[in-house]
Amino acid sequence: MKIAVISPNQVHLQEIRQVLEAGAHTVRAAEGGKSRMREVAEKDQPDLMLVDGMCCDPAELEQVEYVTSHHPKIAVILLCSQQSPEFLINAMRVGVREVLPSPPGVGALQAAVQRVAVKLRGSPVAKAGQVLAFMGGKGGSGATFIAANLGYLLAQSRSVLLIDLNLQSGDALSFVSEEQPASTVADVARDISRLDASFLAASTVKVAPNFSVLAAPEDMAQAMEVKPEQVEAIMALAVRHYDFVLLDLSRTLDTLTIKALDRADRIFMVMQAALPWVRHARQLQIVFKSLGYGPDKVEWILNRYEKTSDIGMQDICRSLNVPKLRTVANAYKEVNASINYGTALLEVARSSAVTRNLSDFALSLSPQPAENNRGLMSRLFKRA
Ligand SMILES: Nc1ncnc2c1ncn2[C@@H]1O[C@H](COP(=O)(O)OP(=O)(O)O)[C@@H](O)[C@H]1O
Ligand SMILES: [Mg+2]
Repeated sequence: MKIAVISPNQVHLQEIRQVLEAGAHTVRAAEGGKSRMREVAEKDQPDLMLVDGMCCDPAELEQVEYVTSHHPKIAVILLCSQQSPEFLINAMRVGVREVLPSPPGVGALQAAVQRVAVKLRGSPVAKAGQVLAFMGGKGGSGATFIAANLGYLLAQSRSVLLIDLNLQSGDALSFVSEEQPASTVADVARDISRLDASFLAASTVKVAPNFSVLAAPEDMAQAMEVKPEQVEAIMALAVRHYDFVLLDLSRTLDTLTIKALDRADRIFMVMQAALPWVRHARQLQIVFKSLGYGPDKVEWILNRYEKTSDIGMQDICRSLNVPKLRTVANAYKEVNASINYGTALLEVARSSAVTRNLSDFALSLSPQPAENNRGLMSRLFKRA
């Protein structure tokens, strides 16, 4: 779940965050009191708000009631260091789900959050995350670059897990982080009987608050031990806990890759405007057709696109028999700076055409309500 925590106490914020993140929840922490509830509700639209503080002043309930009445989908739990009985009764009356002591015990907190999660899962609006697979037509297409940076952009408003399934030579993490992974797909696969949301979350590298990467194994021998059914189990769990699960795939169509392609809701094939890519794309179209993937599942992306390239957009569309193609501009300097720093392109080249293309891509996958949409765009481009 997406959980917002508001507290005047930094230590409480930190402790609560740790407990929730260990349960694979996405946490937004805000320092302050009940007066911040409205702003946080509108900006983050969490599933649950945990609001810490004293619970004595009945006037504060107006702020609580504003959120419970204007955002009925957000569950509110109050953590009260002191409380008057009158406050408690009125809190329930304005729609507060539960009141816990502050600071809450770990067990009590987990149990209360679990009750909200069960309710949410039971409601028909709760649905599984989308699986998006990325594959390069040929080596160096830019599939990993696009998957990693699109993931980073989607995570501005949704929770995202990127799984590097290019097991033999995966490098996706290095595109957005300099960190060495403590654990990889192979470690999770080896311990698959322990697999649950917190084990999965703990095995990832958290690149940004909503963006985690499960890295490919460092060593080829480990990579070869990973079984397709273990990867299936990881994907099945991941979709229940993240809005988007992105897969960076190897170009070899082995059993594991085909399982991942089968499981994907959409497949994005990355190509460039040159004859070898076009030829290869046409061969792959035949393979995909035999695997039963229709045009609504597979989309081709023209990376490093320049209007002046030898083969024009129209020729490629005609060859692939598609009405149009999504393009990502060519920006050697910015893209390589991002890759060399191990930092998402958004952070090193906000105003690059490539950032804009990928932001449009992210928005098309995750349409936002008008208000949020403006928020995302202005956040992305305010320094442009
Ligand atoms: N839009 C782009 N503009 C400029 N260079 C790019 C772009 N996309 C990718 N590249 C370059 O292509 C290289 C290969 O990208 P990568 O994502 O590793 O390809 P793949 O995963 O398909 O093998 C990158 O290191 C980068 O230098
Ligand atoms: Mg790659």
